[in-house]
Amino acid sequence: MRYVLPLTDPVLATRSICVTLSGLRILDDVSIGIPEGTVTGLIGPNGAGKTTVFNVISGFVKPDSGEIRIDGRKLGHIHPHRLTELGIARTLQGVGLFPSLTALENVILGGSSRVKSGIIAQALAMPWTDTEQADLRERALAIMTELGVESDAARLPGELPYPIQKRVALARALVSDPKILLLDEPAGGISAGDMADLARLIMSWVPKRTVLLVEHHMELVMEVCDLIWVLDAGKVIAAGTPEVVRQDPAVLAAYLGQDGAA
Ligand SMILES: Nc1ncnc2c1ncn2[C@@H]1O[C@H](COP(=O)(O)OP(=O)(O)OP(=O)(O)O)[C@@H](O)[C@H]1O
Ligand SMILES: [Mg+2]
Repeated sequence: MRYVLPLTDPVLATRSICVTLSGLRILDDVSIGIPEGTVTGLIGPNGAGKTTVFNVISGFVKPDSGEIRIDGRKLGHIHPHRLTELGIARTLQGVGLFPSLTALENVILGGSSRVKSGIIAQALAMPWTDTEQADLRERALAIMTELGVESDAARLPGELPYPIQKRVALARALVSDPKILLLDEPAGGISAGDMADLARLIMSWVPKRTVLLVEHHMELVMEVCDLIWVLDAGKVIAAGTPEVVRQDPAVLAAYLGQDGAA
């Protein structure tokens, strides 16, 4: 698929986002668009500002200026705990599971704001008297089965190998049935075989879902992305298809500046 930039009707867009943290300009006029039903990459060297973009989209960081649009509609203040209502879910860089909850309980929490009575205690309360909560539990187990981690449902995250923890974190993001999925380094710390599985999984979600993927593994990015945005030092320095971006001199220079990490 070819994209003519700027995109006319992205499902998710940032417009001129500026962020200052501790007196430092972290994002400088960042405008990116994510076309519906695609896997769109957000890449760049360490410290470029990728996770900060996710934090702005999900309401953890308030930008100095600029806006977020979903389906062309400008969002006001974004409450992180209400993200699922907007049809958005994210995974955290690393894993970010609650260590004292089982894998299944962690996954259930990813869908708990869709349960009307969904405060954490109720979402996790046993036995499952409320049908809605029972449905959520069933959905959580179904997603864990889809991701091959159902046999680990009763285990605590600390008992699980890292790649399995990453899958549980993915299941937690998927359980709310998000329209838009933000993945922050899903391939971090996993093997080549697991990465091939991950590529297949990500591609199986589109076009039903739209995926924004932050990732340092270029093989994965180049394989799964329809469109890629490149950040360096808080600014967008390039955008386009994988073929275009991989040959862009500004992108090569940015990665070479990082010890040739491309
Ligand atoms: N709360 C904060 N206060 C000050 N600086 C911050 C804060 N959070 C992030 N930064 C800085 O902002 C810059 C961008 O960080 P960010 O985590 O968004 O980068 P990234 O592209 O996700 O990097 P990586 O690939 O290493 O995950 C970095 O220089 C980081 O040190
Ligand atoms: Mg990051």
